[in-house]
Amino acid sequence: MRIEIGQWQVRSFHPDDAEALARNANNRNVSRNMRDTFPYPYELSNAHEWIEFATTQSPETNLAIANDTDLIGGIGITLQSDVNRRSAEIGYWLGEPHWGQGIATAALKATSDWAFSEFDLVRLYGEVFEWNPASGRVLEKAGYELEGRLRKSIVKDGRVIDALLYAMVRD
Ligand SMILES: CC(C)(COP(=O)(O)OP(=O)(O)OC[C@H]1O[C@@H](n2cnc3c(N)ncnc32)[C@H](O)[C@@H]1OP(=O)(O)O)[C@@H](O)C(=O)NCCC(=O)NCCS
Repeated sequence: MRIEIGQWQVRSFHPDDAEALARNANNRNVSRNMRDTFPYPYELSNAHEWIEFATTQSPETNLAIANDTDLIGGIGITLQSDVNRRSAEIGYWLGEPHWGQGIATAALKATSDWAFSEFDLVRLYGEVFEWNPASGRVLEKAGYELEGRLRKSIVKDGRVIDALLYAMVRD
């Protein structure tokens, strides 16, 4: 899978992404905004395991964000089940040297369009930790709406914090 977004791409992971994945992901400023399943430190072995998982998943729902030479981040959806089966959660991250250039917004827009066209979804949503206004801004710029504050729903780094729930719905 590959979507061109200007000088960047959202594409399938490749086995040779492992070094760039570990290098970009091994950063507390990234991991503190992610679920605990996103490890810190992020070792090369974690990168190999993730790429093995993402490239054998069916359907493929976890993708790399890349420039012409390197992987620079990741984006993916988690399909929900049962009565939530037409919803998916979306999540994303970028290596810190690549922040502030509009890349996450462009990747989120492209991946949201792809998710709605590829799967039988009517709802995409993202949960943002209360200390991460940049990610809330990314969701707003990509067309997501703030639906509410999930009070004390997150335990991260020994703190109990709120999450902000953003969603995009389509018929
Ligand atoms: C959040 C993240 C994905 C943003 O990526 P990015 O490519 O820098 O995002 P963009 O450049 O598309 O947009 C960032 C927006 O946030 C704004 N922003 C940055 N820091 C901010 C802050 N402290 N408060 C408010 N807005 C902020 C920027 O000004 C920009 O908005 P603008 O275009 O209106 O000026 C990136 O910082 C990241 O990977 N963080 C760690 C992991 C993470 O938070 N993932 C999301 C989990 S929900």
